[in-house]
Amino acid sequence: MIDRTLLSESQIAARLDQLAAQIDAAYEGRPLLAVGVLKGSVFFLTDVLKRLKIPVAVDFLQVRSYAGTASSGNIQLVHDLSMDVEGKDVLLFEDVVDTGLTLRKIVELLTSRNPRSLKIAALLKKDLEENRDLTVDFLGFTIGPEFVIGYGLDLDEKYRNLPYVAVWDPSR
Ligand code: IMP
Repeated sequence: MIDRTLLSESQIAARLDQLAAQIDAAYEGRPLLAVGVLKGSVFFLTDVLKRLKIPVAVDFLQVRSYAGTASSGNIQLVHDLSMDVEGKDVLLFEDVVDTGLTLRKIVELLTSRNPRSLKIAALLKKDLEENRDLTVDFLGFTIGPEFVIGYGLDLDEKYRNLPYVAVWDPSR
């Protein structure tokens, strides 16, 4: 039911080279606090961070949607950061922006903690009306509305370890 490879390992690697260069340039040597949203962003985050030249600290948080579907917007913080973000340059790493509701809630939460700056890096953003106003500062790829797996993205906790991104087609 893995329909087709959407983004190959080499396509992802080439894009991450570009993103890392953009991030290095944007922060001009200032130290960065990279915040990964567990679990999907882990592959993307580590692969970008390995390419950076600026000093980087890393932390993680985990959220879960509750009382309904993933796009309900009701999210619960199940694992908070271990570090204080106040006064820091924070770069949030997300795997995929679908409706954007998860990201909006996390941005709201982190903004309330007074970081010096807060920017967003996402591997994928689905081309949807709902997320159109949500700015991703460092975006890997814009994709269609299809469900994707691999490179951190899961279907019921499976397929995260695929080194590429593939489209999931349950009808096949
Ligand atoms: P949003 O709140 O609708 O933007 O959903 C974001 C979260 O839903 C992501 O961090 C993923 O965990 C999950 N998600 C959305 N679309 C996909 C997909 O195509 N494959 C795997 N997970 C997805």
